[in-house]
Amino acid sequence: MLKIVVLNGPNLNMLGVREPGVYGTETLAQIEETLTRQAVELGIELQFFQSNHEGALIDRIHSAYGNADGFLINPGALTHYSYALRDAFGTVALPVVEVHLSNIHQRESFRHVSVIAPVAVGQIAGFGSQSYELGLLALVRRLQRTNG
Ligand code: DQA
Repeated sequence: MLKIVVLNGPNLNMLGVREPGVYGTETLAQIEETLTRQAVELGIELQFFQSNHEGALIDRIHSAYGNADGFLINPGALTHYSYALRDAFGTVALPVVEVHLSNIHQRESFRHVSVIAPVAVGQIAGFGSQSYELGLLALVRRLQRTNG
């Protein structure tokens, strides 16, 4: 069974409260519940991890080495500057799909750059919580093509 690690970076634990006009009213727990239902339909296993700390996210990426098939990540603001996070993905060399609730390309210019995108299979941004569902589906389809 395919095993995917779903990672969320800084401030995403505050979804529901945080700038609802930008990020919506759903909490991270609600998004994870929806993904769990989707995982049952897809016949895959998910593991969830959120941290406000770059190093904790990097440790979680390392521990997936040999134990998981890919990552779905919303890196939060780390998207825009964390070379360490990007290098962690390069280190374990598992497929990554990057997702964002908001359309980062429509916002402040510092959000237009993703240092994660070059090591990701692809990026989905701007569909609210649906970005996660679309990203998971795309990642699973990709893994099924390459593994099966
Ligand atoms: C975000 C976009 C980032 O620019 C921001 O720092 C976030 C959330 C999104 O999901 O739209 O924390 O990744």
